[in-house]
Amino acid sequence: MSAEQTLILIKPDGVARGLTGTILSRVEAKGYKLVDLKLVNATREILEAHYAEHVGKPFYEPLVEFMLSGPVAAAVFEGERVIEGFRSLAGTTEPTTAAPGTIRGDFGRDWGLKVQQNLVHGSDSPESAEKEISIWFS
Ligand code: RTP
Ligand code: MG
Repeated sequence: MSAEQTLILIKPDGVARGLTGTILSRVEAKGYKLVDLKLVNATREILEAHYAEHVGKPFYEPLVEFMLSGPVAAAVFEGERVIEGFRSLAGTTEPTTAAPGTIRGDFGRDWGLKVQQNLVHGSDSPESAEKEISIWFS
């Protein structure tokens, strides 16, 4: 069996704030292996596929606008239980209460916008990871 992989995105807020290197460095320091990396200007088509589960939710359109607002760094990391491990490193969705020590807890806050800007995305299951890696790295 090949090693587990996950798709990690550094969202436009993370790239714009100059945190790309810091965030990648935390994931590497945890011990996961970087296997692919690029800077991407997302398109509506990519985001509709990536966020298919959220289509129709009140935050969907603000989320898409946010993700189109600047470049995103897309990375594939690999390792035993990397999906679970990265989500733990990222912290909870809400940056205000994400635990200190996590990426969202240390670098994120509520900016009073229509959607939470929380710096990173990480796949939430092996099925999502496979789908998302093919969306961003096809
Ligand atoms: P992600 O998919 O980005 O790793 O984050 P997640 O699993 O923690 O959160 P999810 O529920 O999948 O939501 C996707 C992204 O939508 C934005 N969001 N804002 N009520 C809100 O303002 C709200 N809810 C979700 C966040 O950017 C979240 O990461
Ligand atoms: Mg999610």
